[in-house]
Amino acid sequence: MNLKLRVWRQKGPEDKGRMVTYEVTDISPDASFLEMLDVLNERLILEGDEPIAFDHDCREGICGMCGMMINGVAHGPERATTTCQLHMRHFNDGDSIDIEPWRAAAFPVIKDLVVNRGAFDEIIQAGGYITAPTGTAPDAHATPIPKADADAAFEAATCIGCGACVAACPNGSSMLFTAAKVAHLGLMPQGQPERASRVISMIEAQDEAGFGGCTNAGECTTVCPKGIPLNLIGRLNSDYIKAVSGR
Ligand code: SF4
Ligand code: FES
Repeated sequence: MNLKLRVWRQKGPEDKGRMVTYEVTDISPDASFLEMLDVLNERLILEGDEPIAFDHDCREGICGMCGMMINGVAHGPERATTTCQLHMRHFNDGDSIDIEPWRAAAFPVIKDLVVNRGAFDEIIQAGGYITAPTGTAPDAHATPIPKADADAAFEAATCIGCGACVAACPNGSSMLFTAAKVAHLGLMPQGQPERASRVISMIEAQDEAGFGGCTNAGECTTVCPKGIPLNLIGRLNSDYIKAVSGR
C-alpha cells in the first residue's frame, strides 16, 4: 500500500507544532498501524531526520500506552480496537491519513504524538485502592460474590487507561475512566469500606487535574477499545450523590 500521512510534529511542550506530510510506500496490509509508523521512522532515521515520537508498549491491546487521533477518531476507524491492534487492511491504497496526539487540556503534548497522561495517575492515587488486613491470603471463595456483580466488576476492570475517552469527549472529560475505576472496586465486597470516600476523592482529583464535566455526549464509550459502557457514569453519579449527602 502507498499512503500519504499528515503527522503532527511538535519538538516539545513549548513548541507550537505543525502537520508534516510524508509519503510511505510498500506497506503490507497486514502491518499494524504502529508497524507502519515504524517503517516510516526507520526511513527518517536513515535520512538523518528525527523519528516520530509515539507511545507504545505491549502492542497487544492490553497496556493502554498507545493512542493517537487517526483521521480525527481516537484509535482510528475500527470499533473496540487499540491503535496497536489496528491493521492497515482497514485502509485503502492511496489513502491520506491524518495522525495527531490526544487533544485535551489535561493531557499536554510532550512531543509529537506523546501526551502526558499523569492526570490519570492522580485520579487513581486519590482512591483506586482498597484497604485490606495483611496476613495470609484468604481462601479464594471465602467471600461469596454474586456472579452478576463479579462480571460487572470485571467488565469495568478491563479499562486500560488509554485516555481515548478523554480525547474523544468535547469537554475533555475523564468521567468514563473514573466511572470504570470507581465501579470495579465499588461492585465488590472488598471495596465497600471506602466506597463513599473513594468516589468523592476521585471526582475531586479529576476536577483538580483539569478534566471537563460530562454532558452525556457518549463519544467516550464509542471510541473506548474495551467497550466500557456509558451506564457506569450513571452509577458513578449515583454513588457520588449518595456519598456527599451521607446516605
Ligand atoms: S474507559 Fe476506555 S477509552 Fe477510557 S481510558 Fe478506559 S479503556 Fe481507555
Ligand atoms: S501498545 Fe499496549 S495497548 Fe497498544
